[in-house]
Amino acid sequence: MNQTRWLVALAASLCAYGAAGSSVARAQNVVPGNAATGEALYSRCLACHALAYDRTGPRHCGLFGRRAGSVPGYAYSQAMKESKIVWDDESLNLFLKSPMEAVPGTSMGYAGISSGQERADVIAYLKKENASATCADR
Ligand code: HEC
Repeated sequence: MNQTRWLVALAASLCAYGAAGSSVARAQNVVPGNAATGEALYSRCLACHALAYDRTGPRHCGLFGRRAGSVPGYAYSQAMKESKIVWDDESLNLFLKSPMEAVPGTSMGYAGISSGQERADVIAYLKKENASATCADR
């Protein structure tokens, strides 16, 4: 086997391995996100959210690893409080795709982000900000 054919065979077997070993949710979030693009897209969220304080929607600092509906003092819908979601890349990807389908009865009146790349970008931005001084002690 020449080197090119060997690489093709290796790539094919890695793809097969990845597909077999992943859950449906994981498979939906295969695109790496770009935080800089995500920052621009986050302007859509700023209509209702801020990183460090609650507005129409709850703050986004502290999001990763947080149970849905758990910011003290913020008035969530019953649906969000009972959703048992823990926010991470996968659950955010599913929720942001279609909030009202992912959490029926949510009070987040937002249609969602249909592009998987754009969802990954927003998630990358949220992650970057959560690791930054903006979110220290929030
Ligand atoms: C029209 C206003 C509005 C817009 C726009 C909006 N949200 Fe929300 N968001 C809300 C509200 C209200 C809630 C609380 C939902 C509930 O309690 O059911 C919420 C909840 C959330 C939660 C759950 C947080 C938690 O503490 O459990 C996440 C995550 C979230 N929004 C992310 C986003 C992102 C990312 C965007 C932009 C792509 C966005 N939202 C755009 C209003 C909005």
